[in-house]
Amino acid sequence: MVYQIYPRSFQDSNNDGIGDLNGIKQRLPYLKKLGVDVLWLNPIYQSPDVDNGYDIADYEKIQPDFGTMTDFDQLLAAIHENGLKLVMDLVVNHTSDQHKWFQESKRSQDGPYADYYIWRDPVDGHEPNNWGASFNGSAWTYVPERGQYYLHLFAPEQPDLNWENEEVRQQVYSLMRFWLDKGIDGFRMDVINMISKVPGLPDGPLAQGAVYGDSSKFTTNGPRLNEFLQEMNREVLSQYDVMTVGEMPGVTPELAQQYTSLAGTELNMVFQFEHVSLAGNPDRRLGKWNDQPIKLSELKKSLSRWQEGLDGKGWNSLYWNNHDQPRAVSRFATDDSKYRAKAAKMLGTTLHFLQGTPYVYEGEELGMTNAHYTQLQQYEDIESLNAFHEYVEKEKIVDEQTMLEYLAHMSRDNARTPMQWDDTQNAGFSAAKPWFALNPNYREINAKDELAEQDSVFYYYQKLIKLRHQEAVIRYGSYQLLDPKDEQVFAYLREFQGTTLLVINNFTTETVERDYDQGKGKLLLANYPAGKLTELRPYESRAYLL
Ligand code: NOJ
Repeated sequence: MVYQIYPRSFQDSNNDGIGDLNGIKQRLPYLKKLGVDVLWLNPIYQSPDVDNGYDIADYEKIQPDFGTMTDFDQLLAAIHENGLKLVMDLVVNHTSDQHKWFQESKRSQDGPYADYYIWRDPVDGHEPNNWGASFNGSAWTYVPERGQYYLHLFAPEQPDLNWENEEVRQQVYSLMRFWLDKGIDGFRMDVINMISKVPGLPDGPLAQGAVYGDSSKFTTNGPRLNEFLQEMNREVLSQYDVMTVGEMPGVTPELAQQYTSLAGTELNMVFQFEHVSLAGNPDRRLGKWNDQPIKLSELKKSLSRWQEGLDGKGWNSLYWNNHDQPRAVSRFATDDSKYRAKAAKMLGTTLHFLQGTPYVYEGEELGMTNAHYTQLQQYEDIESLNAFHEYVEKEKIVDEQTMLEYLAHMSRDNARTPMQWDDTQNAGFSAAKPWFALNPNYREINAKDELAEQDSVFYYYQKLIKLRHQEAVIRYGSYQLLDPKDEQVFAYLREFQGTTLLVINNFTTETVERDYDQGKGKLLLANYPAGKLTELRPYESRAYLL
């Protein structure tokens, strides 16, 4: 069970308004109490922070805002003393444009780093192809010194590394060894299925009216991906006792069977994106930006496809939340106020009783909600700001108010407000003004109150985690969806060596009647006091051992 920490927003220890490594150390007792096994830290390396650390300027240095290498070593030792493990973020599809490799590479076409990035000549005085970048605009930027364009699938400050170059791969393996030799316990690999591009870099399909083409067919799950992952595994990962999870937009269960195959030649598991991409905008140019609810039958279909697809063949990671997704309770439940705590527990049950490794993102265990911001000035994230400027101001394909509603529903900033520790000023996160505004609801939703209340979301998550450690059926059981078309209830069975687990979750604010023969089971967990056997109250969740 992995707990994800967004270091900037977790705990500030030196009162500069930015979370840091010593802050994480101070909070280890809290994480122990929750019962987690592994901590994953978002990038803590030296970075100009164009994309909050996902643009790395030096892989072997700590970002001064977060502390020093000594702080890191002490944190790692403390994590291990507490019986926990540490997984670091590995961001090697791209570096920062401030990285020494890029600074050298952009100088000329023949220095030692000339081939470290993906450079192409202009075509008819323009970009080499029509690809758009993830954070809007073209995926190519021109550098006059070289007379060439370089590829960046994200911001211009995040140039893509050229994995075709053997020397680049060896550099990556060497920086991985640097951290593994310090004793870390694994990596979460950022967009790792984008490292192999289709040669020739052909134009991507254009959505109607779009300015840029969609590159994903040519940049995700590329022709040499398996080979690169196997090489990385052979040369580095297999030499250490570690866990790995690859972030993989556009991955399918069939591909994930290869990447996470039980033979162990590539990765342990992947983050797939299907269940967090179910609602979309009918105007394809707007990509992920929408304010639509998710249809329960679609959610069930997607999660079930992954449960069945990897059972016995690979391994799933399970998540509702991370630093790129809005808060689960605001997104997957239609009510994040009156029934917030019930809904948070119900979502926890739904996810944690599936097969795979569950990830909890900081504050999820408190049922933290979206920030519900209403003005552009309240946002900070490059993806959100660029999307607003592009679609509202430049292309004028959506009006300001609608786009603000999309941001409120989908922006990554919803996940990045500081952790809500207590109800004092700045929520116990820092004595100084936090780098990013707190969610105003921290006086009602915070760790201190939840730790004092036996019925809180926190203690419910503690139970979920404990049950996973106790019950083999939760860890290993096969999966069977019940009533796929039911738009109100998500119910499923798990089965392992003669033990069956029945999990029932009401995804609505209504009371509904359902009979799964639950009477013959023993209640394992519920988010309401005992009630009528076949009646499910708003967001009620129950799990039975049959
Ligand atoms: C995925 C990361 O999770 C996200 O935060 C980042 O912006 C992109 N990859 C680019 O590194």
